[in-house]
Amino acid sequence: MSEVLLSQLAYAELISPKPEETVKWMVDVLGLEETHREGQSVYLRGWAEWLHSSLIVTEGAEPALGATGWRAYGPGDPEIVAKRVEAAGTGVGWVAERPGRGAAYQYRAPYGQHLHEVFWEVERYQAPPEKVDHGLLNRPQKNPGRGAQARYIDHVTIASPKMVEDIEFYKTLGQRHTAIMHVEPGFNVFATMTCNGIRPTHDLGMVPDFSGATGRVNHIAFRVDQRSDVERAAEAFLAADTPIEFGPGIHGIDEITYLYVREPGGMRIEINAGGWVNAEPDFERKDWHVKQGGTTVWQNLEMPQSMMECWPEVHGEQAEVGREGFESTDLFVPGS
Ligand SMILES: [Fe+2]
Repeated sequence: MSEVLLSQLAYAELISPKPEETVKWMVDVLGLEETHREGQSVYLRGWAEWLHSSLIVTEGAEPALGATGWRAYGPGDPEIVAKRVEAAGTGVGWVAERPGRGAAYQYRAPYGQHLHEVFWEVERYQAPPEKVDHGLLNRPQKNPGRGAQARYIDHVTIASPKMVEDIEFYKTLGQRHTAIMHVEPGFNVFATMTCNGIRPTHDLGMVPDFSGATGRVNHIAFRVDQRSDVERAAEAFLAADTPIEFGPGIHGIDEITYLYVREPGGMRIEINAGGWVNAEPDFERKDWHVKQGGTTVWQNLEMPQSMMECWPEVHGEQAEVGREGFESTDLFVPGS
């Protein structure tokens, strides 16, 4: 029996200590559209997304990932997920509807402890008359042509103190493990997973958290159409005085053209395009050695060590242990 319980990564909740600056940057520089404000949260979406919101900016003390939302593949699937995670002992419970979605079931991965929500009922974006695209009917609105013009949410990359064990948990919900990068067998530094049968590369990325902390996030990624759009995005970032942390370049592990920056609240945001196509439900994951260009396909670039910073930050001895863990991975030398 085949089983696909989740249809897409629907949204990520970004906790920001500077919510007004974060939202302004998301709209003016990344190019998202604001759809709703309520309480301490602002709801945004890529201009080509039909769902109500793909990024929820919520005010908080420091940068962090709040809930990650997954839309189920059909009605009744959230109940199946609920039964399964309750049996695994990681269920949290049902929560009421909120802007953009109906009731959702919350659960956590056993080790990373990230909070996920699964739901079926959604609210769709309804463009006002002046924004309707009368020519391209698969678009919920016209392309506003603003900033980096981020079109869709693409993936969330989280950090786990026990990455391989968490991957096994996500697999019990039908998510497919597509690739892993290692220094030596059992010493893994990156992994990709996808929730359905047609997603090209990944909607969930994972890095190890050598500090032992839980619930941390490395970045949230948005997609544009063409690789050249990533270069145009780089120009938009520079014009907005947003420093570029890494890229544009191509990751070997997913063939994505990547570009990483930090939004005003401090979180790393990726804009990307391209990627290999994987429609095989029984595709066997690929094991990359860290020297094979999984990070930089041309094998001639050094990834900045700052790329392993995750949020919320850890401090003192815990931060030192985390840093030493990554420094032992060879991720930061050309060819890795
Ligand atoms: Fe990424």
